[in-house]
Amino acid sequence: MTPRLIIETNDRTKELGDLFGLFFEDLSHAADGGMYGELLQNRSFEFSSLDNREYTPLTAWNKVDQCDLSIGSLNPFHPKNRQYLVMTGNKGDGVENTGYAGGIHLKANEPYRFSCWVWCKSGPLSLDILLLDDEGFCLAENSIRCEGEWKYYEIQLIPSKTSISSRLRICFSGDGSVALDQVSLFPVNTFKGRKNGMRADIAQALCDMKPKFMRFPGGCLTHNGSLLEEDRNSMYRWKNTVGPVESRPTRRCSWGYNQSFGIGFYEYFLFCEDIGAEPVPILPGACNPHHFLFAPMDELQPWIDDALDLIEFANGDIDTKWGAVRAEMGHPEPFDLKYIGIGNEEVHKEFYDRFPYFFRAIREKYPEIKIIGSGGPYPAGGEYDHAWECAKKIGIDIVDEHYYESPTWMIANAKHYHDYSTDEPKVFLGEYASGGNTYWNALCEAVYMVGLQNAPAVAMACYAPMLCHSEYRNWNPNMLWFNNHRILPTASYHVQKLFMAHQGTELLASAAPELDMPETLNETPLNGKLWLEADQSAITLTDIRLEANGIQTNYPDVAISGADQSYITDVGVASYVLTLKAQRTEGERKGFRIGFGRHGEGDYVTWNIGGWENQDTIVAGRHNGYNAPLTQSFFSLVTGRVYDLRLEVSGRKIKTYIDGVLYNDTEDRLPATQPLYHTVSIENETGEIILKAVNIRNSPITIDIELAGLPQSRLSGTKYVLSGHKPEDINSFDEPDLICPKEESFSSDSPAFVYTFPPHSLTVIRVKPEQ
Ligand code: AHR
Repeated sequence: MTPRLIIETNDRTKELGDLFGLFFEDLSHAADGGMYGELLQNRSFEFSSLDNREYTPLTAWNKVDQCDLSIGSLNPFHPKNRQYLVMTGNKGDGVENTGYAGGIHLKANEPYRFSCWVWCKSGPLSLDILLLDDEGFCLAENSIRCEGEWKYYEIQLIPSKTSISSRLRICFSGDGSVALDQVSLFPVNTFKGRKNGMRADIAQALCDMKPKFMRFPGGCLTHNGSLLEEDRNSMYRWKNTVGPVESRPTRRCSWGYNQSFGIGFYEYFLFCEDIGAEPVPILPGACNPHHFLFAPMDELQPWIDDALDLIEFANGDIDTKWGAVRAEMGHPEPFDLKYIGIGNEEVHKEFYDRFPYFFRAIREKYPEIKIIGSGGPYPAGGEYDHAWECAKKIGIDIVDEHYYESPTWMIANAKHYHDYSTDEPKVFLGEYASGGNTYWNALCEAVYMVGLQNAPAVAMACYAPMLCHSEYRNWNPNMLWFNNHRILPTASYHVQKLFMAHQGTELLASAAPELDMPETLNETPLNGKLWLEADQSAITLTDIRLEANGIQTNYPDVAISGADQSYITDVGVASYVLTLKAQRTEGERKGFRIGFGRHGEGDYVTWNIGGWENQDTIVAGRHNGYNAPLTQSFFSLVTGRVYDLRLEVSGRKIKTYIDGVLYNDTEDRLPATQPLYHTVSIENETGEIILKAVNIRNSPITIDIELAGLPQSRLSGTKYVLSGHKPEDINSFDEPDLICPKEESFSSDSPAFVYTFPPHSLTVIRVKPEQ
């Protein structure tokens, strides 16, 4: 019998709201050198070795001929734009900027806007502005006549040829001395033609996804930094990012470069508006969990004010203080902010001690705003549970969870959220990805997204990270790669786009009784190799004892350091208990691991004690080369102290104890691949029914589909199919469109039809009855 899929077109079970959206963090040069349209690097001579050890105020600038270059700071044109270039020379002498990644991309016959601030130190003079290709051929030339103290100048240049590795030259047309600052080169044709706008191809690719929201500005860069707003190394403080671009103090980005704040909070809001996405700003919660910096409880007010003022900046009347700043910047209409997040991945007691003060202040003044709290960077464990307990107690609207897991984990946990209660805070899966950019990764993410859409408690979800300049990679994988002149949408981008563009307004009930199967296969016990492994520390392990099948075996003491591994045994039975004593003898930052359940070079599980900067005890699976953190709790090793450790394994269930206390309790689930993963929604505006189905098996599956409740008339619409690829296929700059969905029209004579889903495929069918 052909399996059935019955869709109840009149049974709407969940409002999908703002379910699928984007996450923007300026890492891998996602903003500066990426989506921000500015083509020059270090335009205001503010780069410093504090941002990156290799930086100087002249990074990306080269002198031309005998020009004398120095950095001034005594008389800046704006106090927050602290440094400027002083340039003295003869005719033809000058400076060149090479942009990002060694060259500027210029398009033939397109206009570019050059602007800068100049202080003529030696009396009126002319500066020649040239665009040169990598062989020194002049693509465009213009000049500015300058005089007096700091003044703003702006001209246009139109290159005669396209070049992907150009440079901008500024040189004297006669002898002279000038100070230069805020030197800028922008395409006039930015996304939507905005001045200080976004690079058009990247922005358009994001817009085409039709995201429901965009979370910004990070990520770790939100909370990484000092507590002092005026520090170059401060946490991300949004007030430093608004007002004229030349008045924004540049900052050390925690991803190892300089953040110009050219894209600041105004630009984020504007971009969200331009792409039809709800803005979801995340502010630091007065805590830096990486360096254990927490604002004292009696100094929280400025941080809380930042949150309240941000809401005023976004939504306030133009006669309010911050509403006026927004209006002054060009947007008198409110941005209609609906969400605000406090904290990124903080689950510490210190964070949840402070959070209620933010919560109460925001709720009291702006009861209509949904407040997002943090669930931390793991899918389960002691801190995760603590965050949820706090969230429920405080009454937080939405909890932001982050985790990066293996494709295997994603399939085994496709129904991760199905039992979460809808009365409690809703779930925002604010960061996730499956460890790679292959077709298989993307299909497994699609399976997980089906589960997210179907789970009543999940309100929002976004893949992370979103953007990566291929020559400045901080992270892997990413959704959309780019270089200076091209974009590279990954298979994951296409999956995300299919889910966003075809989300629908409400979820419809659907059932496929013949396809229901157990979700996990737990036939492979963790009974393989057992070993001990140092993690950049020196560890002594004694009293090592394995108890299996009622037999106790003792093993010799072990001393390991660096990345040493010490084999213990191949266990051979499904249930066992390992006990040992552990002492870290050297090192402060890390601890060690106990590995178990490995057969040959295959999968295994590790228990990491003193993991992540000696803050955690983590149990993680390793599946086909991908990491899958399963559970985490806080735990720090004290050097010199001896700990009693106990590992209990039963099948694929794992418990770990330190000094008799249960720290980790988890299961490394292996998936039983379902024949088809499906979710169905309706788009209220058009009346279209949207079926999304993922077949991750290597064979086609034919299904009898019935759209119950529709009139017996013809259906027509469109289908979008990702199929025909090998699991290991991957888009590359050589073959950027290798994996790309195909769009075709779809029709059926009646609301009941038979459909064959191809092997390894994601299919979206959008239909409605013909009129
Ligand atoms: O997405 C990259 C990083 O992963 C984010 O900055 C952080 O929130 C997470 O740990």
